[in-house]
Amino acid sequence: MSQKKDPKDTYVLVTGGAGFIGSHTVVELLQSGYHVVIVDDLSNSSERVIDRIGQIVGEEAASRLAFRKLDVNDKAALEKVFEEFPIDRVIHFAGYKAVGESVQKPIEYYSNNLGNTLTLVDVMRNHNCKSIVFSSSATVYGDPDSLPLTEESPKKPATNPYGWTKWMIEQILSDLTVADDEWNVVLLRYFNPIGAHPSGLIGEDPKGIPNNLVPYVAQVAVGKRDAVHVYGDDYDTPDGTGVRDYIHVMDLASGHVAALAWMNGRTGVEIFNLGTGKGSSVLDIIKAFSAACGRDLPYVIEPRRAGDVTANYADCSKAKRELGWEARYDINDMCRDSWNWQSHNPNGYED
Ligand SMILES: NC(=O)c1ccc[n+]([C@@H]2O[C@H](COP(=O)([O-])OP(=O)(O)OC[C@H]3O[C@@H](n4cnc5c(N)ncnc54)[C@H](O)[C@@H]3O)[C@@H](O)[C@H]2O)c1
Repeated sequence: MSQKKDPKDTYVLVTGGAGFIGSHTVVELLQSGYHVVIVDDLSNSSERVIDRIGQIVGEEAASRLAFRKLDVNDKAALEKVFEEFPIDRVIHFAGYKAVGESVQKPIEYYSNNLGNTLTLVDVMRNHNCKSIVFSSSATVYGDPDSLPLTEESPKKPATNPYGWTKWMIEQILSDLTVADDEWNVVLLRYFNPIGAHPSGLIGEDPKGIPNNLVPYVAQVAVGKRDAVHVYGDDYDTPDGTGVRDYIHVMDLASGHVAALAWMNGRTGVEIFNLGTGKGSSVLDIIKAFSAACGRDLPYVIEPRRAGDVTANYADCSKAKRELGWEARYDINDMCRDSWNWQSHNPNGYED
């Protein structure tokens, strides 16, 4: 069970805490008074994130942060972390996340995403730590029958190995709560996280060609790429381009803090959508980013991509009701903060 504890007495292990969503969540956790231990193998992030987090939160809060570079699949190394720190709760971000790459590398994706989760929960159980928040995704809803998506909307078969890993990890973690009623599992289904910390010190730093829309748009804005590729303009949406529920990464981060507080003293499994409840099209995003960076960004229309759904957006009333959480930022805020990050760090965390 998640023991009732004050944040100042609570140690939160954050796997993948040097990554995009993890780093912003760590800032919120430290600013809410928690002790935080990041484990990350830096396979898709940089150690510089740790210093940047320290700069944002200041000396006192940074003194409550520890970083251990390790692969969550390395059971012996993870055991040591649990021996070193009295971990109460875990937020599990670590995993590979590129949909297209997962089709090319199913073994790597299943082995990292499923393997590291199984190692993690095994080590947690050994140390009687049975509270976990997992980064799931709206991808589990597939092509929706109706909108908005509630937590009761049916899960659909995934269309790629990445999506299946989210699907299967949700199942694995739910099964733990059936086998042992001390487990407390929160599955957070994220919609489309974008934006960056308003300081411009941390943000999304994709390696190679960005897979997601906004990092790509940001690289066009900074002059690293020629034009945005818009996949399909003949969908049944107001402007013909795909519609998604974009959520500011700072809102997502505060959603994790709200979920941790909500877990206090609970058991079982609960699912929450984290989105804004509003759909924006690809062209809406290009327009908002153009306004943020002060010039019209060029784009080209390409054929639809296999596996892309027409539209999705969330019903977030459950998170509002239960967690007391709702998104505060709109796409103009998100694009402003993404641009602030990208323009100050055109090469991400590299020099
Ligand atoms: N960004 C999105 O659009 C989105 C949407 C829905 C769900 N998610 C999920 O949220 C989580 C975080 O996403 P993100 O965008 O911050 O990704 P990210 O790649 O920026 O962060 C993941 C972090 O995990 C680390 N990592 C990967 N495998 C590891 C391992 N075996 N051991 C230790 N560290 C490991 C990486 O180095 C990286 O720092 C992921 O599970 C992702 O699938 C992301």
